[in-house]
Amino acid sequence: MKIKKILSIQKKITDKNIIVNGWVKNRRGSKNVFFISLNDGSTIENLQIVCESKSINEEVIKQITTGSCLSVSGLLKTSDGSKQTVEVLAEKILILGKADADKYPLQPKKHSLEFLRENAHLRFRTNTFSSVFRIRHSLTFAIHNFFNLNGFTSLHTPIITSADAEGAGEMFKVTNYDLNNIPLGENGEVDYSKDFFGQKTSLTVSGQLEAELGALGLGKVYTFGPTFRAENSNTSRHLAEFWMIEPEVAFADLKENIDLAEKMLKYCINYCLDNNKLDLEYLNMRLKNEESQLKKELRSESSLLERLKFVVNNEFKRLSYTEAIKILLHSKANKKKRFRFQISGFGDDLQSEHERYLVEKEFKRPVVITDYPKEIKAFYMRLNEDEKTVRAMDILFPEIGEIVGGSQREERLKILQKRMKEMNIDEKHLWWYLDTRKFGSCEHSGFGLGFERLVMFVTGMKNIRDVIPFPRTPKNAEF
Ligand code: 4AD
Ligand code: MG
Repeated sequence: MKIKKILSIQKKITDKNIIVNGWVKNRRGSKNVFFISLNDGSTIENLQIVCESKSINEEVIKQITTGSCLSVSGLLKTSDGSKQTVEVLAEKILILGKADADKYPLQPKKHSLEFLRENAHLRFRTNTFSSVFRIRHSLTFAIHNFFNLNGFTSLHTPIITSADAEGAGEMFKVTNYDLNNIPLGENGEVDYSKDFFGQKTSLTVSGQLEAELGALGLGKVYTFGPTFRAENSNTSRHLAEFWMIEPEVAFADLKENIDLAEKMLKYCINYCLDNNKLDLEYLNMRLKNEESQLKKELRSESSLLERLKFVVNNEFKRLSYTEAIKILLHSKANKKKRFRFQISGFGDDLQSEHERYLVEKEFKRPVVITDYPKEIKAFYMRLNEDEKTVRAMDILFPEIGEIVGGSQREERLKILQKRMKEMNIDEKHLWWYLDTRKFGSCEHSGFGLGFERLVMFVTGMKNIRDVIPFPRTPKNAEF
């Protein structure tokens, strides 16, 4: 039986023989009787195993160390202890896998997150990481559920792509050339015609352009897959390989796009509040403890659980880029030169310090900024009547900053071609994208949600490397 099941049905099934498998978290006790805390990953809670020396062989007892893997058969009974309602009185213990007590890295004490990152192959066994990854699973499930309930078709867009027009950052090249002997053309440049795909290919930075093709036939689609960016940004919010959710909806304008994103985010957070209570309570406590070590001004004003509940119960603040710039320009922080990047006026790109100011100081809630200057956004965003701004939207979250980026798409062929020309994007590579504007084009919109940023928000983890099983960052692709 799984420990989650055992602990959920509790008293109803006591005095029953069961078999339970798991890893030893801890052991304590005396020569005659000792106690094992066993965990199997189904829940954060451990099951207490009681071993009496009269029933378990001494040789076996010696091998039961922290980290070892056991199969325990015994009697499930009501516990006399105050910490647990049930326990298992062991009748037989099989050591499935020993763990050398001196060498096992995860001792029963608090380890730093950095240390656990270096031991990412074992960190699934800790309370923090097992909670994070159960929540990551719940969020994945909630996302698919949300779109399915709302009539979307899931679309697997390609990971290898020949389109590099998104402008979302440097791309990783895909080739099967022998790197020591790359065929060159007459001009001395790489001759891709002899490469596997007969053209230059890369790992995708976004599934959006292909998702748009799907939406203009299937109506409502979403893609949820890995995306890759070779930017050398070594921050706590960037990965070189991350997962993105990108819905694309025909006949939807920017407002409907924002409504969809807000509804989806709230659905996912609510799903975790309902289904990951113990994990969230643990992470809530963990964050409180962690922050209690910090100086007062660095602590969050609210706890993790308060934050999650606040977000699902309140409307996101919506305002235009122009309004946001005005607020920032006149803010004390800007006047007193407290921003690293001063705001001077319309046209400035918003840095994460500005985004966090708006969310955490000015509005104290998630903020949606719309209608950015066309110069700082991608070519496919719909041009506004003012011809200066585009129908873009970014959603900014407390503690995270940008979590969603999206827009209404430019569906008018002539204007799209003009924008591509202005941004030096060769039409030849995107003939298929332009075709959709030639044949039955229509108003449509979509967005991209950075999945790890959502996991960060829900778990309260402050480094993106701690919410993906095996992070890929500059100079790091271990495991
Ligand atoms: O804002 P971005 O670059 O938007 C796009 O790629 C659009 N094609 C999306 C669309 O409209 N379909 O990325 C979307 C989101 C960001 O808001 C952020 O949450 C996340 O992806 N993101 C990253 N997450 C982790 N590591 C990185 N390097 C990220 N870059 C973007
Ligand atoms: Mg963005």
